[in-house]
Amino acid sequence: MRTPLMAGNWKMYKSASETVEFFEQFRPLVEAANDRDIVIAPTFVNIPAAVDSVRGSHIGIGGQNLHWAKEGAFTGEISGPMLKTVGADWVIIGHSERRQYFGETDATVLKRTIAALEAGLKPIVCVGEKLEDRESGATNDVLKTQFDGGIAGLSAEQFAQIAIAYEPVWAIGTGKTATPQMAEDAHKAIRALVAGKFGADAAAATRILYGGSVKPDNAKILMSEEDIDGVLVGGAALDPKSFAAIVNF
Ligand code: PGA
Repeated sequence: MRTPLMAGNWKMYKSASETVEFFEQFRPLVEAANDRDIVIAPTFVNIPAAVDSVRGSHIGIGGQNLHWAKEGAFTGEISGPMLKTVGADWVIIGHSERRQYFGETDATVLKRTIAALEAGLKPIVCVGEKLEDRESGATNDVLKTQFDGGIAGLSAEQFAQIAIAYEPVWAIGTGKTATPQMAEDAHKAIRALVAGKFGADAAAATRILYGGSVKPDNAKILMSEEDIDGVLVGGAALDPKSFAAIVNF
């Protein structure tokens, strides 16, 4: 009922020529997978090369962040309309690396999400707990705080257009995947938050992705969980064969 959304986050990796090479290999491998959404988020400067490379396919391209203003004196920033103009259709918002290293807060996540929607971009909004939160049993509290302070501020109409990515910070780039049960429990908790704020229909329709050391050998088991509707992949999305294996789980 929820279309799987398989997204790759390239972080600060790959040149323009490596971007083109990736898609030359990747495209034929996922050609038949047209029952799911496929997205790659390259660095900003390589979005045009990526957009050219996927033309005529059903692969979407996204940004890894955006500023909430349309334009202005914000040195080093990129706006939603700028992303849209170069052919991006998606954008990742509130990734834990943005939160950890660049001062992203739940309030700025909300502002960026609204700006993305206004620009016609489809946001993938990230939430997730740190290791100490999980160890102290605070996972669900953290998710609730991030939800309440962030995307709960959207209108129902806006909310219907976003996907959420649950990414436990301790699982990102560490090789430590949450067990399918841990991920499923967190996804259920997030879906309950959505139901509480936006109602049961919205909760049933919202796509919640799992991210954190997703690899070809664990994608299938994660995707078999009832509340896991897709994945957000870092390291394993850099290699065309491995990301294709995940997409084709
Ligand atoms: P990883 O990264 O797959 O390398 O753990 C996931 C992410 O940061 O989105």
